[in-house]
Amino acid sequence: MAVTDLVLAMTGASGAPYGIRLLEVLLRAGRNVHLTLSPAAVEVIEQETDRKVRLERFELADLLGDAAALAAPGQVRYHHFRDFRAGIASGSFLTGGMAVCPCSMGTAAAVAHGLSQNLIHRAADVHLKERRKLVLVPRETPLHLIQLRNLAACAEAGAVVLPAMPAFYTRPRSLGDALDFIVGRVCDQLGVEHRLFPRWGPEGEAAAD
Ligand SMILES: Cc1cc2nc3c(=O)[nH]c(=O)nc-3n(C[C@H](O)[C@H](O)[C@H](O)COP(=O)(O)O)c2cc1C
Repeated sequence: MAVTDLVLAMTGASGAPYGIRLLEVLLRAGRNVHLTLSPAAVEVIEQETDRKVRLERFELADLLGDAAALAAPGQVRYHHFRDFRAGIASGSFLTGGMAVCPCSMGTAAAVAHGLSQNLIHRAADVHLKERRKLVLVPRETPLHLIQLRNLAACAEAGAVVLPAMPAFYTRPRSLGDALDFIVGRVCDQLGVEHRLFPRWGPEGEAAAD
């Protein structure tokens, strides 16, 4: 496996479309992706999209629809959330980083406290201990003090906390534009090139794809 492989975990926060779009963008960018989903993510995906994913019999097309055709053979490796034997459960398995998108408050708490109760928590733990990039995309509002402290603990341990908070200075014209702003900012953190939104700068250039 190449060190450019990325891990994408989807958990049960609102915002399944962020995770789905991120996966599509990573595939278009030619990155290999280790994908894992929590049971709550499956519920949220069903609530927020027309898609129904099965954890035990995962099919990429159930999650991505037609966009599954973007994936080359072996480009996406799915890991069941209980599979601690997966490579991504070990620090000796090299990756280029991990995103938890969207990240529930429950998963943020587990990461903050090193619980490692499922593969998502464990892979996040591994990324922190190996000092690799870990991007958490939490979505909750408002936040109480324990949640804020958990997010702060994650940041103190080295995670990038990148809340699903779209900006408006890019003048989004659709929900898709707002989604792409967050997905693009995650890609920036993971070192994945993209043209998902116009960047701020004196030139005012960079049209979005
Ligand atoms: C439709 C739906 C929306 C939810 N939205 C959020 C949310 O925005 N943020 C959050 O932290 N939890 C949210 N939850 C609750 C989590 O799914 C729940 O706490 C779950 O235990 C998280 O488990 P996980 O971290 O293993 O995915 C939502 C649940 C459902 C069913």
